[in-house]
Order: sequence, then C-alpha cells, then structure tokens
Amino acid sequence: MGALPLRAAERRRGYGAVLVALALFGLVWRHWCLRDVISLSKEPAIDWKPCWQDPEFLCGVLDVPTDHDDPSAGTIPIYLTKLPATKPERLGIVFTHPGGPGGSGVDASFVSARSIRNATGGHHDIISFDQRGQGRARPNVNCFGSARAYYDFHSNTVFQTTFSVPRDPFSDAGRAVLVEQQRQALALEETQGAVCARTVGKEALGYMSTTATVYDIEEISRVLEGEDALINFYSGSYGTVLGQYLVNMLPHKTGRVYISGNVPADMWANVHYETQELLRLLLADAEKTYTFFLNECFEAGPKHCALSRQTDTNAQSIKDRIDAFIDRLQEQPLAVANSTRPGYITSGAVRLTLFLAIQMPDYLPRFFTYIARAMDGDGAELLRFVKRAYPPSDPETGPDEDGYVYIAQENLSRLAISCGDALPRTEEEQPPTAEEIVDATLGTVRDVSPRFGATAHMIEQHGGCHYWPGTGVGPARYRGPWNNTLATRILVASNLYDPITPISAGTLVQHTMGPANAHHLIQDAAGHSTNAPNTQCAAQVIRRYFVEGVLPEGSETRCAREQGNYFVHVVRERGVGAQLLGQEILRNDRLLLPLAS
Ligand SMILES: *[C@@H]1O[C@H](CO)[C@@H](O)[C@H](O)[C@H]1NC(C)=O
Ligand SMILES: *[C@@H]1O[C@H](CO)[C@@H](O)[C@H](O)[C@H]1NC(C)=O
Ligand SMILES: *[C@@H]1O[C@H](CO)[C@@H](O)[C@H](O)[C@H]1NC(C)=O
Ligand SMILES: *[C@@H]1O[C@H](CO)[C@@H](O)[C@H](O)[C@H]1NC(C)=O
Repeated sequence: MGALPLRAAERRRGYGAVLVALALFGLVWRHWCLRDVISLSKEPAIDWKPCWQDPEFLCGVLDVPTDHDDPSAGTIPIYLTKLPATKPERLGIVFTHPGGPGGSGVDASFVSARSIRNATGGHHDIISFDQRGQGRARPNVNCFGSARAYYDFHSNTVFQTTFSVPRDPFSDAGRAVLVEQQRQALALEETQGAVCARTVGKEALGYMSTTATVYDIEEISRVLEGEDALINFYSGSYGTVLGQYLVNMLPHKTGRVYISGNVPADMWANVHYETQELLRLLLADAEKTYTFFLNECFEAGPKHCALSRQTDTNAQSIKDRIDAFIDRLQEQPLAVANSTRPGYITSGAVRLTLFLAIQMPDYLPRFFTYIARAMDGDGAELLRFVKRAYPPSDPETGPDEDGYVYIAQENLSRLAISCGDALPRTEEEQPPTAEEIVDATLGTVRDVSPRFGATAHMIEQHGGCHYWPGTGVGPARYRGPWNNTLATRILVASNLYDPITPISAGTLVQHTMGPANAHHLIQDAAGHSTNAPNTQCAAQVIRRYFVEGVLPEGSETRCAREQGNYFVHVVRERGVGAQLLGQEILRNDRLLLPLAS
C-alpha cells in the first residue's frame, strides 16, 4: 500500500503536463489521448492474497482513477476476487457481475464463481469486484449509516409492501387509491435523496455509474492482461446492461461476452423510468410465466404444490382462488398476531410474493406454501418474508432479537447506479406528478400485466431520479450508439418464461446490435434468467463459445425443455420445508431484482 500514493502522485504530475498541452486540441482528442497516456504508465500487478472467506479464491485491491478523464479527481480502491482457472491451457480472465445493481460482487463470487468457471469451461480466471459505491468500496452509498436505519425508514411503507391495487383500478375511486400511494413513494424518494445529499454528497455520488464501471473494468483488464487483451464477460440481469455498455463503449476490445436475462441498455440510459416504457417491455411475459407455473402447480398436485387442492379440475381454479384472496385482502388486511414480529398482510404483499416466486423457481414451492398458509389464516411466515427477515447466516450482520436478520428489500446502493445512469431532466421538463405516474402505470396494468403491472415498480425501484443528488453530476455518461461493430460476436440469452426479462427484451437487444454482433440463445426454461444455464443444450453452447470462440450458425439457437415438473423437481432436490439460506436468497434477490435489477 505504501507505494500507491507515490505512484498516484507521479501519474498526476505526468497528466498535468499532458493536460496543458492537450487543451489546444479539443475535447475528443483530450479524451482519447489521456486514455492512451494512462495505458502507457507502468502499473504494478495486483498483490493477490488468499481470501479468508475461501482460500481457493485470491483477494486484491486496485486503485483506479475516480474520473477516467480527469486524473486530478484522485483514485478509488476497487476490491477484487480471482478464482483461478483449473485447466492447464489458460485463456485469460472472465469478468462477472452479480446483477442488481447494488450487491457486493466480492461476496457474491464466493457462492457463484465456481459455477461460472464450470459454465465457461475452466480455462479462465474468474474475476469479480465490488462496483463503485457498493460493498467495500469507498465512498459507499450507506446514506442512512446502517442497514438497520434504512430498514426502519422503509418498513411498512409502499417501498416494503408494494402497492395495494383496488379491484377496479380504472375507476375514479380506484385511481385515487393508487395516486395516494404514489404520493407516498415520491415523498420517500425525495426524503432519501435529501439524506444521501447530506451524508454522502452529490460529488461522491456523481462518480458512480455504469459508464465509470466500464472504465474500471478496462483498467483492471489492462493491469491483469495487458493493454491489448480482449475483455471477456459473463453476467445476467442488470449485468446485461453493464455488458451492453462494455461492448459498445469498447467495441474493439470485445471478447467472449455472455449476457443472460436482458434489459435493453438504450432504454435504461435514455428513457425516464416514470414513463413505464421500460417496465412495459420487461413485464411482457409476466402473466404468461404466472400461468405456466400455476399449470405446473396443478399438474404437481397438493403433495408438491401447497396452492393446489385435490378438488381442483384445472389451473384456473387455483388462479381464481388466489385472485379472490387478493381481493379479500384489499378490503380487509389479514392480522398476524402470533409472530415475534406482529403486523398485517396486505394485497400488495401477496402480489409481491407471487411476483418474486415466479422469478425464482427454486424457492417457488416454499413461497406458495407461505401464501397457502396465509389463505388458511396464518400469515406469520408470509409476513416474515415480506418484511425480508432471513435466518441469520452472515456473522457480520448478526441476528435480530428474534433470531432473524432484517434487510431492506431495496436500498440506495442500487439507486446510486440506476440514477447515476439516468437521463437528467432539462430545465423545461417538469418532474413527473403522482397522477402522471399512476396513469402510465395503469397503462401497464391494462395492456401488459393486470396482476403485477402496479407492483413491479416498487420492486424494481428506479424512480425519483430527479430527487437523486448524483443525477447529471460528474463525468459524462455513455448514451449510445448501441450498435457498434464488435471485435467478437457476443451471446445474448433468454428464457421462454421469464417474468421480468422476457424474450422480447433479448430480441430487442440482439436486433439493436444486429445479428452480426450477437447470437440469441433461447431456452425453454422458466424463471428469471440469470447466470447458470438451465439446459445441457445451452451449457454446451456457452462452453464451446468460451473455450473455442465458436457460436452456432445463424442468428438464434433454441434449446428444448429438459426439466420435468418444476414443483416435483424442486421438492425432490431441496424439500419444500427446507429453510431458506439467508445469503442464498439475498444473492438471488440481487440477481433478480436487478434490473433494473
Ligand atoms: C458443470 O457443468 C456441467 C455441464 O453444464 C454440469 O453438468 C455439472 O453439474 C457442473 N458441475 C458443477 C460442479 O457445477
Ligand atoms: C444494500 O443491499 C446490499 C445487497 O443486499 C447489501 O449487501 C448491503 O449491505 C445493503 N446496504 C445497506 C446500507 O443496507
Ligand atoms: C399461528 O397460529 C396458527 C393458528 O392458530 C398456528 O397454526 C401457527 O402455527 C401459528 N404460527 C406461529 C408462527 O406461531
Ligand atoms: C446504428 O443505429 C443507428 C440508430 O438507430 C442507425 O442510424 C445506424 O444506421 C446504425 N448503424 C449500423 C452500423 O447499423
């Protein structure tokens, strides 16, 4: 560590001289020349040490420029892990990202990097990192001082429970119920923005963005593999946004890139979230996926799926029963008294749980059990889930007095990146009113998803960026083009039944880039498509791509269903009564709720 400040100082002097000279040449010149100068400076290798969490991993830190165009802004430490290749013929490194955004890539690597190394064939070192503002990074987006303080802030608000949707949301009375909740959401967004401005500051937040993260990845690649190395990348969900920025900002450096469960970066970067344009696209298969899983539930029967009954004649009876339960709760919330955390269940809580359940098939039987018990009058487990209480498994967080760890469903780490990327509003553009947001949301309910159309924007909380102190502050953000010619064709993947990143989003990403730059891999699988392939067919395509650099002919590959009934399968593999592992579900939350999360 002792040598680092010196090195930074030397670099700063060097840049100073270059800067004066380059001021004459205009902005573009300045940008690219400086980036070349950075690349010429001699970087020491990262000082890797075995990680205490898992000695097969190596841990290290690299100081990267805070502003890749302005060396006077200082440096930021990026914490890294490396899981070394197992095969003798090493092919370089693969970067991964856990999605979200908002989680710690370092922590996630200990649970996911081995399966990524396996999926990519074992010839690459798998490199993970804590993105700016997240995890161990400093500055950090811990606006409220502690996870518990933020939990208290959002507890029992629409941020935690999501919206209650009236039976007829299109009537005047129904719309008014939504507007009232949207006003609450806007006030929460305004409050947290003001808190972050005070505690973290807009200067620090202005340096957090996907654009900055791409330059960080480039810097890490340069230090580890040299200036000319192509950059390989493997990620899902929000990680697909990062992947699209990466390949389009550095098209000449594009290596083997796999992005699964896609969110179109053009909409992420250039459309205001409150228009619901992005969510309307992302929810395209939400109802289809819900129906798929209720069919699976009906076929599996009561032994494997708690929401099915012996007397059911088809999946529609299950669906009707759940809809009736949601409508009953809308009139009369369910009291939950015999719990260490008493409270009540709202209709929003059931929508939230259903929507998360169909993203995570591995937990679906368990989540359905919570709902089935609530339908029978015992809402204790469902309330615990909605309040995001996890069995303690993280020694650093520690359990609460009742033995559970309480974590805010979403926190500001995520907003730091999504609002960091968001298009600032011009002086003339009025911020959206609650009424306008609700009318956009009603469009989503009417045209795309009646059940989850007014729920998802509280799960994928990316709104209120006009209150966010980092929006429009700091270095310029990349906003396109998104169809640059890439040095290597990339692999875009989708699931047939994905409630939050549908095939149509994968198709749009591929069409935007053009089939010459991207191949689309579509699996007949259900759930939010994240990191691991769901079929042997897809696994073979991915492995061959990373090992041999070969993709199938044509613009698209379809992989047929290989999995039997989801409920029967999961109950056999995991048991429906198995307690959720806190870290495991947290990790999945990040992947899932990515997007946008
Ligand atoms: C490695 O990948 C293969 C092919 O997808 C899979 O069958 C196997 O279970 C994986 N092994 C591990 C340890 O993840
Ligand atoms: C924010 O969420 C991430 C991912 O769940 C978690 O690792 C982090 O500790 C949280 N931060 C705060 C301040 O709650
Ligand atoms: C709550 O009460 C119900 C019914 O009285 C019971 O079946 C259930 O086990 C109780 N739950 C807890 C967590 O004590
Ligand atoms: C890239 O997209 C832009 C905007 O849609 C379009 O005008 C341009 O022709 C495209 N370029 C290529 C090479 O396809």
